[in-house]
Amino acid sequence: MHLTLRQLQVFEATARLLSFRKAAEELHLSQPAVSMQIKQLEENVGLPLFEKLGKQIYLTEAGREIYHYSRTIGQLLGEADTVIDGLKGAHQGRLTIAVASTANYFVPTLLGVFHERFPGITVSLDVTNRETLLQQLTENVVDLVVMGQPPKTADLNAGAFMENPLVIVAPPDHPLATQSNIPFKRLEDEVFLTRERGSGTRSAIERFFNQHDVQLTTGMEIASNEAIKQSVRAGLGLGLLSRDTLDMELALDKLVILDVEDFPIVRHWYVMHRKGKRLSVVAQAFKQFLLEEANDLLHKAVAHTS
Ligand code: PGA
Repeated sequence: MHLTLRQLQVFEATARLLSFRKAAEELHLSQPAVSMQIKQLEENVGLPLFEKLGKQIYLTEAGREIYHYSRTIGQLLGEADTVIDGLKGAHQGRLTIAVASTANYFVPTLLGVFHERFPGITVSLDVTNRETLLQQLTENVVDLVVMGQPPKTADLNAGAFMENPLVIVAPPDHPLATQSNIPFKRLEDEVFLTRERGSGTRSAIERFFNQHDVQLTTGMEIASNEAIKQSVRAGLGLGLLSRDTLDMELALDKLVILDVEDFPIVRHWYVMHRKGKRLSVVAQAFKQFLLEEANDLLHKAVAHTS
């Protein structure tokens, strides 16, 4: 067999996503270019690697075998990159991180400081929700992930680096806005705007309400912190959000945090990776930076702006 690495790379993406279109998007190629690489690979292997049933493609037995090897080869190449970057030091190399949608509010500030120290590094940042982050860790496609409470079952190395308080927000003219120590039960009379399923913020909130035996009425499910804030301002309901998403609205008095008993819900931000993963020098440096400096840096930034 005369396979090329390019063919294997294109095949790996197509087999993982089970879609020529999605593979083309991920690899920034045209769909015919993907089909051509797969066709050449099938000719080299001498067997079909995909079969089509209706509109969906599936791996054949030969396809499953080649998928296994394409992943192993991909991981070994990634490891070779890591080792070579290590020899070059932390001043060069690539950092691939994925962060929870909510962490998007502070991770760029931290990346700014880190990048000033190591201007030679290239950062690839993906912002997505908790469920997708866990999948990315399982597939070993990222160096580091930043998100809330790690799942207990997963084989993960996780370090907490900062508090993540969840608060209830309302428009400033809401009747509860001026009250103090509002009983938690009183919230049963209110309608809430909550994040989508798969969001860490949402599952923490649902757990907290359950534990306190308080019923949560969801008016609207919204897959964006920004859209929740706008909807709260428009009077569509109360918002349940991480305090980290609210700097701007609080500074401009567009939203207020309600003083509810038992609140805020205190969670933490974690930096994590798969146990046993060989971290590049750059990834190690960024992990260390988060654990040792993020909290102070961000709190100084908040003190400065408020
Ligand atoms: P999310 O993130 O609600 O944006 O998914 C927070 C978390 O991981 O807890």
